[in-house]
Amino acid sequence: MVSSDHIGPGGETEIEVKVETKGKRGRITKTVQIQSNDPRRPLVVIKLYADVIDVYHTLNYPADQIFRTPCRQCHVDRGIGKSGAQLFWADCLMCHQRGKIASPVDKLRRLPEEVLRKAIEEGVPGTPMPGFGTIKGGPLTIDQIRSLVRYIKGL
Ligand code: HEC
Ligand code: HEC
Repeated sequence: MVSSDHIGPGGETEIEVKVETKGKRGRITKTVQIQSNDPRRPLVVIKLYADVIDVYHTLNYPADQIFRTPCRQCHVDRGIGKSGAQLFWADCLMCHQRGKIASPVDKLRRLPEEVLRKAIEEGVPGTPMPGFGTIKGGPLTIDQIRSLVRYIKGL
């Protein structure tokens, strides 16, 4: 937002820039392009850098902490009422993809269905993989867990 859209020669104005930091961490870049009818520099590009300090992921928590407030807003709530691929994208993909801490789908696919079901329902002790089944205090019903197994296996 520009405080005045008419700037005389040698004049000044202020620009308000908003940066969305939700879900981001580390060094982020925001590029702002300013266009005007200045004959010599019709386009000025400003790059802004910010270091986003992540208040959620700096400490060590027990794996099932992600089911609680404030973690659940990103780790659970987005998957409520969903199943299959959509549930996987909402609840699992943040950890299970290339470059993240856990195996991507094509690797998980090689595991037998029963191994998948058990890991999803009961978790993997000693890792950040909590048991998502209600028996472990997790948010997912048996039907949702079955739908994830079917999605992973490509059924
Ligand atoms: C604003 C959304 C958001 C909130 C709130 C949030 N997380 Fe996450 N979390 C993510 C995303 C996105 C990832 C994927 C990490 C990445 O992209 O590098 C992630 C990844 C993780 C991981 C995998 C290890 C890692 O660091 O990559 C753990 C463990 C985790 N979160 C635990 C928590 C806990 C515990 C809380 C609450 C104290 C929490 N998260 C709150 C979005 C969130
Ligand atoms: C906070 C990060 C995180 C989230 C969220 C998460 N996982 Fe995991 N998961 C892991 C880690 C870490 C492991 C152990 C390392 C591995 O096997 O990839 C694991 C292991 C597994 C395994 C066992 C893999 C094996 O080789 O035995 C399955 C299956 C699995 N996760 C499925 C899921 C599904 C489905 C979801 C979503 C409901 C999910 N995970 C959510 C981190 C996570």
